[in-house]
Amino acid sequence: MPMRHSVTKVVIPAAGLGTRFLPATKALPKEMLPVVDKPAIQYVVEEAVRVGLPDVLFVTGRNKNALENHFDRATELEAILMRKGDEERLQRVSESSVLANVHYVRQGDPLGLGHAVLRAKAHVGDNSFAVLLGDDLIDPRDTLLERMLQVHDQRDTCVVALMEVDAAQAHLYGIATVEPTDEDDVVRVRGLVEKPEPGSAPSNLAIVGRYVLKPEIFRVLEGTAPGRGGEIQLTDALLTMAEDDAAGGVHGVVFRGRRYDTGDKLDYIKANVMLACEREDLGPGLREWLREHVLEMERQPEVGLAT
Ligand code: UTP
Repeated sequence: MPMRHSVTKVVIPAAGLGTRFLPATKALPKEMLPVVDKPAIQYVVEEAVRVGLPDVLFVTGRNKNALENHFDRATELEAILMRKGDEERLQRVSESSVLANVHYVRQGDPLGLGHAVLRAKAHVGDNSFAVLLGDDLIDPRDTLLERMLQVHDQRDTCVVALMEVDAAQAHLYGIATVEPTDEDDVVRVRGLVEKPEPGSAPSNLAIVGRYVLKPEIFRVLEGTAPGRGGEIQLTDALLTMAEDDAAGGVHGVVFRGRRYDTGDKLDYIKANVMLACEREDLGPGLREWLREHVLEMERQPEVGLAT
């Protein structure tokens, strides 16, 4: 049984352009790219449901049809599978349509993650809420979101997920300056900078795609000017919250588990391999092939490289 939390609503922004993954994302949101045999975003919705948060608002952009259809009934397909008596596939087709109570809001122009979150204001109202990025997968065995909800409830604060990254990767993330607290995995966030110039990151603690936010964030976002890349950055609004002790500031939960950024090509491929390796139906065959393939690559390291 999931624990009860004060948070009941989840917002999943999925309106980004996904330019790192073109041309696959020309007609498909990157959150809909399959990881093994499910769209990435379904894992994220399953994560929300697992912690007892089935009220999900998707912030969609262009190409929203594929996403809406995936979380809807596929009546014709279901009828065909039923006629064939293919119970197993029928179950797989219908599970995403009954998984959560889904709602949609359009972002219009992709003016940044902060702008996407602001579009959730009417749905969320005066309540704290969770934001889960639809292209960021947390391994189902790790309990990051549960812990973040707990920290929010105990400390009445906004909570971000932080992970240690290599210095060479820091310019790709929002980076936090932090102070310790009396709990090992919880830090107080004192500074935040979105995608710092290479070599200038103030730490190696990066924000990853899970947030628990207090409703005050909407007022702050409304006053946040476009920042890095001309976009309204959630990180900039969080910095304002972090500096506001009266509003509870911002805390970070330091996550040391498994996470895949499926919006990045290399991480996307790793996610597919790792998750498939652990599946009963695919794992044994894939592991065997991988072992042989690695040996082959060691014998001929440069053969077959193409751009
Ligand atoms: P990213 O920073 O990964 O940006 O967004 P992107 O534009 O989607 O991808 P690239 O860099 O061009 O390949 C982080 C999250 O915020 C959402 C994205 O869908 C993703 O889940 N987002 C971003 C929005 O919903 N709206 C925006 O305007 C920007």
